[in-house]
Amino acid sequence: MGEFYTLGDVDLAGKTVLVRVDINSPLDPRSGRILSDARIREHLATLRDLREAKVAVLAHQGRAGKDDCVPLESHAERMAALLGRPVRYVDSLIGKTAQDAIRNLSPGEIVVLENTRFYAEEDALSDKPVEKMAKSHLVQRLAPLAQYFVLDAFAAAHRAQPSLVGFCEVIPTIAGRVVERELEMLNRALTSDARPKLAIFGGIKADDSLAVTRHMLEKDTVDRALTTGGVGLLFLDAQGVDIGKPTRSVLEKEIEDYGEQVAAAKAVLGKFGNRIEVPRDLALNVDGRRVETPVKELPAAHPIQDIGLETIGHFATLIGGAKTIIMHGPAGVFELEPFAVGTRELFTAVAESDAFTVIGGGHTVAVAEALGLEKEFDHVSTGGGALINYLAGKPLPLVDALRRSRQKFGASI
Ligand code: 3PG
Ligand code: MG
Repeated sequence: MGEFYTLGDVDLAGKTVLVRVDINSPLDPRSGRILSDARIREHLATLRDLREAKVAVLAHQGRAGKDDCVPLESHAERMAALLGRPVRYVDSLIGKTAQDAIRNLSPGEIVVLENTRFYAEEDALSDKPVEKMAKSHLVQRLAPLAQYFVLDAFAAAHRAQPSLVGFCEVIPTIAGRVVERELEMLNRALTSDARPKLAIFGGIKADDSLAVTRHMLEKDTVDRALTTGGVGLLFLDAQGVDIGKPTRSVLEKEIEDYGEQVAAAKAVLGKFGNRIEVPRDLALNVDGRRVETPVKELPAAHPIQDIGLETIGHFATLIGGAKTIIMHGPAGVFELEPFAVGTRELFTAVAESDAFTVIGGGHTVAVAEALGLEKEFDHVSTGGGALINYLAGKPLPLVDALRRSRQKFGASI
């Protein structure tokens, strides 16, 4: 048995098990329909392993106050269709309806409880000590009804909230298959000696990526970082390139404390500049058309929405020679076809390389699937923020909770 429990350690047949998954999914803003069920599919392995248990699923969708914070009814329907077994949705989380539903479960039955983010405790007790979360109404009411808690929400591993970590010292908490595989594959990429090791960072959350770049270069986790998307633009700005007003205002809007981030990027370049690749050319959106432009011709009066063809070629060559690759985030505005070129070409180059490849980021699974490439990577992480935090060397509350539970309940559960 390792530093935390896994599903292989415990016989859960006939037991009542609370399972915390992350099926937070992109929804169609108009119809509310689930646009990608990738995260639901990821959890099927865990749910199949629990086929003889009495299962109550906990999950969140969206953030309180946002349009995508909706009931989990259609998630339950999709789960049932994918599993080929009935899954009952219960529109309650801690009330009598939920408690009765859990008490009345038979082995092999699954209920999905209400969106945990409908309940104020989830936010109010965020980042509070585990002891305090253990006293939440959620834990106090549900824990006595179950023998075990299965924690499988890797994509929310960076969140310390009662429905994720509040149960760990109250009932034995076991890692699900998603968590087990994520940690195994990410650790393999981080500790691999197969060099050169490349990080490719894109997307618009450039502040997060900056922290990861610094950490990975400092620790020699990777030899070189290739930057695309908003991250590449931040580094160009830090080099003193005038990226132009329309692009700059997008970055200022999307990235908190943008000025400070530019200063931080400058410091990272000062230390590791020879190991960081920035775009050599870019693609402008001129009334919906793609117009290539070399960096030396900036500033541009039109927004930059992709890396340019020369950069794509150069990065593809570096990718071809790499032995380990960690890629996070798209290279451009991939939702618009003319500006999807960089993302598509880099994803394809990584997919075709012989390296050990790990990709991740909020939209990444959906992009990989849209390109039909998801099977070509060694690992497609479900994590966005969780992945970035892990790569940056920050402790994940979910992993801490699993360890605490193992320490508290010992070798025989
Ligand atoms: C995610 O999609 O990033 C996770 O489900 C966590 O959601 P959150 O960022 O709203 O906490
Ligand atoms: Mg997030």
